[in-house]
Amino acid sequence: MPEFFYTTAANNRARDGGLLDVRPVSGALGADVFGIDLRTLDDERQPALRQALIDHQVLFIRDQDLSVDDLEYVTQRFGEFGIEPYVQPMPDHPHVVHVRKEASEGTPMVFGGAWHSDWSFQETPPAFTLLYGLDVPTHGGDTLYSNMYLACEWLSPAMRQMLGSLNGIHSPEFGYGPNSRHNAGLESMQIVWGSNVDHDVRSHPLITRHPETGRDVLFVNPAYTLGIEGMKPEESRPLLDYLFSVATAPAFTCRMRWTPGTLAIWDNRCVWHQPISDYFGARREMYRTTVKGGVPERGLVS
Ligand code: SIN
Repeated sequence: MPEFFYTTAANNRARDGGLLDVRPVSGALGADVFGIDLRTLDDERQPALRQALIDHQVLFIRDQDLSVDDLEYVTQRFGEFGIEPYVQPMPDHPHVVHVRKEASEGTPMVFGGAWHSDWSFQETPPAFTLLYGLDVPTHGGDTLYSNMYLACEWLSPAMRQMLGSLNGIHSPEFGYGPNSRHNAGLESMQIVWGSNVDHDVRSHPLITRHPETGRDVLFVNPAYTLGIEGMKPEESRPLLDYLFSVATAPAFTCRMRWTPGTLAIWDNRCVWHQPISDYFGARREMYRTTVKGGVPERGLVS
């Protein structure tokens, strides 16, 4: 039986921009930001930018000209660097990942090519991720985002109540474990995969409370949430599959069209993302950093 998903434009309404030119891109989440230079953003507009990020969950800051050093500077204005596991960082830049796919590569595999929130198996997953588009295909290579506040709110009170006391089991197994052969197709990146990853398996509440907004969030994702504590796989699998189907409803998503010099910043605590692999034969080059987050706290399930 199909489920008829919807949301309202009020979720992602334009706020009184004041100091910034911020333009929502969908009813669910996401906004373009124009008219700033992140290298010289003053101390008055930096908090406004952070507030816009909290309000819209993902920002696409257009027309930037950032070096790797600039990206490091911009990242640290949002907080401490996060830790990047399973990917070799750039030489001399231990916090920057070079997300690169060459036109000549032999497979359509892309880095991070399934819906996920970043490193959710970490004890303190990143609060924010920054991704700078240096060289982007003329068409294709967009990134999708989905709003996990809306996914959580879509669930019935009875379902939220049940999930509210449970923990999801997060693991890098599918992404980077012994059977994650898709990594062999990422020819231009140095991915560390193939070893036992059991030391990185962690539980987090299925419904978390966003530390800045206080809103409940559905904190699971198909790449890293492999089970539910205390449940048999036969029980957790259909439940997780249902939650994933809710979380990917088009009404809760936006799609970002890259232009060279765009910096995307997303709030990893309430957003999933997925780069679309539809540009095989073209080149795409980005720099990526994360900002450290806290331990995910249980939601209040209101
Ligand atoms: C990622 O960080 O998962 C990659 C996103 C992208 O390349 O668009």
